[in-house]
Amino acid sequence: MNTTLVINSKGGSGKTTITTTLASYFAAGGVPTAIMDYDLQGSSLNWLRIRDPLAPKIFGANAAPQKMGLRSLGRHVPEDTRQLIIDAPAGASGLLLQDMLSRAKCIVIPVQPSAIDIHATANFVRDLLLRGNIRQRNIRLAVVANRVRKASPVYQPLERFLASLGLTIITKLNDSEVFIKAAETGVGVFEMDASVAFAEREQFQPLIEWVDVDYRARTANTVIELPRVAMAGRTQSDLVRTLPPRPAPPPRAAAARPAPPPQAPAQPKSQLPAWLSRLSQRLVE
Ligand SMILES: Nc1ncnc2c1ncn2[C@@H]1O[C@H](COP(=O)(O)OP(=O)(O)O)[C@@H](O)[C@H]1O
Ligand SMILES: [Mg+2]
Repeated sequence: MNTTLVINSKGGSGKTTITTTLASYFAAGGVPTAIMDYDLQGSSLNWLRIRDPLAPKIFGANAAPQKMGLRSLGRHVPEDTRQLIIDAPAGASGLLLQDMLSRAKCIVIPVQPSAIDIHATANFVRDLLLRGNIRQRNIRLAVVANRVRKASPVYQPLERFLASLGLTIITKLNDSEVFIKAAETGVGVFEMDASVAFAEREQFQPLIEWVDVDYRARTANTVIELPRVAMAGRTQSDLVRTLPPRPAPPPRAAAARPAPPPQAPAQPKSQLPAWLSRLSQRLVE
């Protein structure tokens, strides 16, 4: 089972959106898929509830700690689950954070393009790397820029900070009505009409391929047909072709691993903001 933890200490960064989009992609491709929702707000579980009963099945586990302590209603998923996506609550720490980390094979961190969010995310990445045993346990980690409004230079300090740690922003997702519509109607962008969600699918695709390390091997010569799910106010057709054939894949090892730490950073460290410089310095020492 591949377990992906979608986490950021900040609320509203896109954890639930990425969780549900990943889960619906895998489920629609026939992969046994489950979501474990650690957030008391239960947004992922709500999304599952409004999902069309005929839509590809996704198992939902309520892993949120109950009021009296760490116990939850259920942290079990069916044995045949192949893709498990964990939707983390904002501000998770202590035992709860350790519990989620102990399950993760890869970690996805969505970040919004404000200076405050970027600052908080850099701190969060630092804490994960310093305390989460990420490197020792070979957990892969990637950052997704979410709700991007324009090609904005705002991410550059974060990109340089991540590069100094051998990490990357794996993709940038636009601030788009399509993600909001998907959240409201219990679908993912890969289950929506290609003409409606083309850009969003294209933007999401690198994350799919990063999470699913076997993606390139499996899809080198095939096009997967995904059943389309009803969206409010739309008519359905039976199938929609979602994955255009891709160019010849690069060697798998290169696709699966984050870029190695550059010998010399692309930019001198002195060009980072002072707070990022300090963080980066502490981590590489
Ligand atoms: N790329 C996006 N474009 C537009 N709206 C988005 C996008 N990502 C998230 N949202 C919206 O932002 C709000 C917060 O996102 P959500 O995924 O619930 O964040 P989190 O789970 O981190 O709190 C939701 O209303 C969601 O629909
Ligand atoms: Mg959420």
